[in-house]
Amino acid sequence: MSFKAKIEETAKNKKTPIVLALDFPYQNPESRTALFAKAQNVLKSIHPYICAVKINHHLVLPLGTFNGVQELVKEIHDKGLTAIMDCKANDVGASNQVIAEYYYTAGFDALIANPFVGWEEGLKPIFDTASKFQRGVILLAYMSHKAANEGYGQTVYDNETRKKIPQYVYFARKALRWNADGAVVGATYPEKIREIHEILREKVPIYSPGIGIQGGAAETALKAGAQYIIVGREITLAKNPSVVAKKLQASVRSIV
Ligand code: XMP
Repeated sequence: MSFKAKIEETAKNKKTPIVLALDFPYQNPESRTALFAKAQNVLKSIHPYICAVKINHHLVLPLGTFNGVQELVKEIHDKGLTAIMDCKANDVGASNQVIAEYYYTAGFDALIANPFVGWEEGLKPIFDTASKFQRGVILLAYMSHKAANEGYGQTVYDNETRKKIPQYVYFARKALRWNADGAVVGATYPEKIREIHEILREKVPIYSPGIGIQGGAAETALKAGAQYIIVGREITLAKNPSVVAKKLQASVRSIV
């Protein structure tokens, strides 16, 4: 089963669109054993309320890909969930290919990449590697932070249509053309979710980060057209992560 189908099936069966961003603040690397245990504990306590886990450099850097993180990916799979690597791959094709090979070999079901680098000698090698491993690629379309407009909101000239369009519209069209498994649009910009959803419709699902601490609201993002919400610190930094995750899932289960 493809990554896209797997995550959709899990989300529908469990009635949850929540992708957990398993992020923690910087800690002295000598405390990696404690960090690993913390990640395991959060996963153990909240897995009933989520459909996937997104891992970022927050864990890959201190734990290492083939030591700690690969073990966590196995635990994620044992719980019936998919694992996404948020590496925002953004290099030349040859390097992108190696990045993808390592993360897919470590067991990740999908990775996030940046469409700014384009296709030939850019993201094509990632999509080729993904099809070889039968894994997914999710593209950034409009990020959740305050300055997102400086890059994703720029007006660009589309050589094909000879029209000026916003960068994020261009990226959304690329996501469709390249048959991406998802597009990331910040929950902090529901109007952008709506606009990008108009382009992607049901073909490319929208993943929306920026819920809670960054200011986005889960229900608003889902109603605007996001299929999945990515939630990190709101859950991982909570005194009781399972209480927060359970409450959040209860508030959105009817929209899935
Ligand atoms: P928080 O703690 O803010 O974590 O809920 C969100 C997670 O998602 C990442 N993030 C993004 N990832 N595009 C992405 O691909 C975005 O626009 C974006 N905004 C936040 C963030 O790094 C963290 O892991």
